[in-house]
Amino acid sequence: MALQRKDLLGLKGVTAEEIKEILDTAAQLKPILSTGSKKTPHLAGRSIVTLFYENSTRTRMSFELASKYMSAAAANISASASSVAKGETLIDTGRTLDSMGTDVIIIRHPMGGAPHLLARHVKSSVVNAGDGMNEHPTQALLDMFTMREKFGDLTGLKVAIVGDVLHSRVARSNIWGLKTMGAQVVLAAPSTLMPVELERTGVQVTNCVEDAVREADVVMALRIQRERQKGGLLASVSEYNEFYAVNQLRLSMAKPGALVMHPGPMNRGVEINSDVAEGDQSVINQQVTNGVAVRMAVLYLLTRKNGRA
Ligand code: CP
Repeated sequence: MALQRKDLLGLKGVTAEEIKEILDTAAQLKPILSTGSKKTPHLAGRSIVTLFYENSTRTRMSFELASKYMSAAAANISASASSVAKGETLIDTGRTLDSMGTDVIIIRHPMGGAPHLLARHVKSSVVNAGDGMNEHPTQALLDMFTMREKFGDLTGLKVAIVGDVLHSRVARSNIWGLKTMGAQVVLAAPSTLMPVELERTGVQVTNCVEDAVREADVVMALRIQRERQKGGLLASVSEYNEFYAVNQLRLSMAKPGALVMHPGPMNRGVEINSDVAEGDQSVINQQVTNGVAVRMAVLYLLTRKNGRA
C-alpha cells in the first residue's frame, strides 16, 4: 500500500512499500537541488508551518527549504517567541494554525508523543521532526536514502549504531525503518546508555563497539545528548571517547568502504573523531543534502494523499 497517511509520526508501523515510495520519490526530486532555479510547483498553494519547541539547524532548515523549493508558503514558529510562551496549549496552537489554513505542521517537541496528540486534534497533516526520546522519522528516512544511494538495496546490510542509544530518537526510528527494510541492526553503547527494552525489538545489542562494527556496511555514530543526561550515566567524556568513539581503528574493523554516518550535530572528539568525520568514508554532508530531498518527498506525498494536491 502506497503512502496514504494524514500524518508521519514515526516509522514504527510504516510498511516497506510506504518507505520505498518515500525514498523513490526523494530520488526523483533530488536533482532539483542541483538545478539553477530550485523551484517546482509540487506544493504550490500549500501552507507549511514548522513548530519547534527545541533547537534545530538541519531539520528545521531542510523542511523550510524543501517547502520553499516546492513553492509552498512556509512559516516558522519558535516556541519561545510565540504565544506558547504565554501559556497557550499545544492543541490550541495547532487549532490556531488549522484556522489559518495550514496544510502541514512540522513539530519538534521535548515530550515523546506530543506530535501524536497534536495530530489527533488538527485537520492539518502533522510530521514529527523529533519528539523526546521517541522517534525522528525523517532523519531515519534520509539515513536509509543515503545507504540506498551507496548500496542500492537495504536488505541484508549490517548497520552498527554506536553511542547514546538511550536518549536517541534517531536510533529508534532507524531500528524500525531498517528492520522493516530487511537490514541487520546492531546497537553498541555503555550499559548506562542502552535501554533494555530495545533488545525485545529483535536487534542485536552489545556493550562492545568492536563487536558491533566488525564487518559492518554502515557505522553510524550517535551524538552524546548532554542536554538529556542525568547524573552518573557517563563517567567522563575522555573515557567515553577512548572506549566508544568511532575512530580510525574501529572503522578499520568494518567492511572496506563502509559508510560513516552521523545525524548531527556532532561532538567532535567525543562520539566521533574529526579524521573519521572528514574521511573518505564519511557521508555526513551527503546526509544533510539528502535530508532536503527526503523532506520534499514527505511533504509532497502527504499533501497529495491528504486530498489537497
Ligand atoms: N539531526 C538533527 O535532527 O539535527 P538538528 O537538531 O540540527 O535538526
